[in-house]
Amino acid sequence: MNTIALPESAHPAAPPGVAGSLHLLACPNCRDKSAPLYRENRHFRCRRCKTRYPVIRCNGDEVPWLYPQPASAFGQWHDRHVRLSAELEADIERINNKLDGYLYPTTRKRLERLLRAKRDFARQIEHLLSPFELSAYQADNNQRALLPQSQTITSYQTNIFRDWVWGKDEIEAAYAAVQTVLQQARVSRLGKLITLGAGPGALPYLLEQRLPTELSVKFDINPLFAAVNTAMMAGGSVELIEFPTAPVNLNHCALTRTCRLDNTAAYEHPIPSNYVLGDVSHMPFVDAGFDTVFTPWLVDLLPGQTDALIGAVNRLLPAGGTWLCTGSMNFLSAEPSANLCAEELMERIRYSGFVVKAHDSARLPYLQSPASAHHRNERVFSFCATKTHEVDLMGEQNPPADAVTPLPVNPDTRYTASNYLLRAQVLSAIDGKRNINDITQAIARKYDLEFDAALRVVTGIIKEEYKR
Ligand SMILES: C[S@@+](CC[C@H](N)C(=O)[O-])C[C@H]1O[C@@H](n2cnc3c(N)ncnc32)[C@H](O)[C@@H]1O
Repeated sequence: MNTIALPESAHPAAPPGVAGSLHLLACPNCRDKSAPLYRENRHFRCRRCKTRYPVIRCNGDEVPWLYPQPASAFGQWHDRHVRLSAELEADIERINNKLDGYLYPTTRKRLERLLRAKRDFARQIEHLLSPFELSAYQADNNQRALLPQSQTITSYQTNIFRDWVWGKDEIEAAYAAVQTVLQQARVSRLGKLITLGAGPGALPYLLEQRLPTELSVKFDINPLFAAVNTAMMAGGSVELIEFPTAPVNLNHCALTRTCRLDNTAAYEHPIPSNYVLGDVSHMPFVDAGFDTVFTPWLVDLLPGQTDALIGAVNRLLPAGGTWLCTGSMNFLSAEPSANLCAEELMERIRYSGFVVKAHDSARLPYLQSPASAHHRNERVFSFCATKTHEVDLMGEQNPPADAVTPLPVNPDTRYTASNYLLRAQVLSAIDGKRNINDITQAIARKYDLEFDAALRVVTGIIKEEYKR
């Protein structure tokens, strides 16, 4: 089984994409974004701090790996891949155990299908991630806080199918929403466009196809999306299993999907995907390098970091540049002041060197897989703003130098804390008398969880502990 299929034309020399636009790339570690990177074979190097950043050859294209600590980022993504594989293995073991016993015929059929699908999915992910050679690195424990814990390999995986299998109407609806604000703001050219949190990339692709665009760079934290996007832009196809949230029938509990661009005529020649990997909180681009910054479904993912993100977008644009934004306002921070409504977001933007030219809200279909009975509709807020002047909103959260200033709230810290807490509760319950079921029951009661859901978490933690 080959997960990725590429046309012949995608294999020769890499197309000149963002990896060739060195003047736009900057060291994510150095605050001075005027220090350009230079190329050394399969790496970029920073003239100032000398850090080397790999350029990954992926599906005939080149993807710069511009995380601030590149080796540590490999190690951390490797860890996340290992964790995913362990979860899939645990699922497979549980299904196998059930298959050993009596089952109603239809349940047996579904579990057999699920078993095959989980095995195939593990292989597909492995194949998709293979260009990154993640296993060659070990995570450096001193730098583990670097990548947001909330981002895993399979985060937002449904977006892959929405973008490249069944979601054409959704992408068109999202395009219409941004087109509305662009028209109201009288913006007809995107010039050099960068999409932050680009995901699998269908929406930026539509923008670059339909509006005058000089260069379209896609930036994201997740290497899986870079792998899928490079294959799509090369005119290839990717096979991946979709596990719908609420399968409409037994055969839809797991489906092999083939992701591809349907407009094959446009793909006689591969299009450079211009995908760059890194973290928006350490932007690896020069100041004022882009004419348009697009943030689809990103702002509310970073609650507590809104000012930092606004500052980062401001720095990417010259005066007169455009910030185009769309997505839900679904901030999910435990800190109430960070959960902004549209009016609050607009106010901050107006006070941060932008004038808001247009904004709009529309109800859109969202992740409506035809294989699932669970469908979402979202009221989506979009705006178009023009940069007027520079502001200094670095917003990086360093701990205060003194011992009396309250520590700033960081949603990632909360996530880490709750993870550690759960781990501590599970491990401290091991007393030589209790078994996994006893511990699971206690955890399920404490967190009001279904027994099966709690069992999965508890087993994962215990397995990891006993492996050490
Ligand atoms: C809700 S998804 C939206 C994806 C895409 N924009 C869309 O509309 O389908 C959020 C995206 O932001 C990316 N992301 C999350 N945190 C990030 C970070 N710190 N830096 C860069 N990308 C990030 C995720 O990998 C994901 O692709």
